[in-house]
Amino acid sequence: MDPLPGATPDDTNPLRRLTLGELRRRTSMKWRAYPDDVLPLWVAEMDVPLPAPVVTAITDAVARGDTGYPAGTAYADALAGFARARWGWDGLAVERTAVVPDVMLGIVEMLKLVTGPGDPVVVNCPVYRPFYQFVTHMDRRVVEAPLGADLRIDFAALEESFRQAVADGGRAAYLLCSPHNPTGTVHGAEELAAVAALADRYGVRVVADEIHAPVVALDARFVPYLSVPGAESGLSLMSASKAWNLAGLKAALALAGPAAAEDLARMPEEVSHGPSHLGIIAHTAALRDGGDWLDAVRGGLDDNRRLLAALLAEHLPAVRYRPAEGTYLAWLDCRPLGLGDDPAAVFLARGRVALSSGPGFGTGGAGHVRLNLATSPELLTEAVRRMAAALD
Ligand SMILES: Cc1ncc(COP(=O)(O)O)c(C=O)c1O
Repeated sequence: MDPLPGATPDDTNPLRRLTLGELRRRTSMKWRAYPDDVLPLWVAEMDVPLPAPVVTAITDAVARGDTGYPAGTAYADALAGFARARWGWDGLAVERTAVVPDVMLGIVEMLKLVTGPGDPVVVNCPVYRPFYQFVTHMDRRVVEAPLGADLRIDFAALEESFRQAVADGGRAAYLLCSPHNPTGTVHGAEELAAVAALADRYGVRVVADEIHAPVVALDARFVPYLSVPGAESGLSLMSASKAWNLAGLKAALALAGPAAAEDLARMPEEVSHGPSHLGIIAHTAALRDGGDWLDAVRGGLDDNRRLLAALLAEHLPAVRYRPAEGTYLAWLDCRPLGLGDDPAAVFLARGRVALSSGPGFGTGGAGHVRLNLATSPELLTEAVRRMAAALD
């Protein structure tokens, strides 16, 4: 398996560039949490080399000794340009943005602006596990609004959760995940406008986590929440960290709709001291000059989604998988395998492949696993082979 068969140095798909040996030399969480006989397809890191413009931007900064505190609006300017070019959205007003250390800490700060201690925060379960952890840790209450069987927002469930959330008079927020982790669902313009209308009707403030926004299928379209009618009081978090694998270079942006500008202005200034200057340099370069690289990754992920569906059909036909339009995550319903609530534990123990455990994603997660598709076709194939072997 090392080097990967089929991987050539000049392959234009960044997902095919690195050998397993090169990846195992990484010291980040994905590659260090488990022993070397485990193939890791869990945490949302990508098995890619960085785009050349990002490498150049960071190494030049280091060579200059430009490693002080961040200043200016380059990150927001680059995101505004990206949003205009990619999503046809020219409503990203740089003066209504703020840099924050990362998306999760940005979410905490946005929730502090629009809710108080003990107040409810609605989430669409199953959802990214830290939504529960960070919200609870900041002394807010999670209210679950399960996704529908089609893995899209169930508006009846959402309305019921809003009704519950506002029932005892607190200030309620809705932490929308768009695109949705773990299902990869890309919410459409009509759905987002319906979210805005419902939130307005119940007086619920929307905070949209749009960290996966750039990572959609080549023929799919991401719609920024703040671009839909009725979303003027919304807040959003965006970042280059998922799409360009920059989680270790900390930075993210908080965005406010026109009617939320005063809320964002109340964010304490010291929060903006958190992001790393090198992170902002890297994210800015990615948004400005990383478009071709991103499109090559999106094409590779389209291939990997098809490959995963074919591999499951061949080796694990009972597993239910609905290829999604967004993110590099695959949400696998393993209940028909009869492996209990946490099939990831079985795949790890018996197959030596690490996936994310479904139950951590809240109600609806039992019997599921999340698989990270941002790897080479060869490692993806090996992962499914190991999953199937775990059942022998
Ligand atoms: C939906 C979602 N939000 C936030 C994060 C974490 O972002 P950050 O590292 O910027 O806090 C992730 C990471 O995978 C994620 O999937």
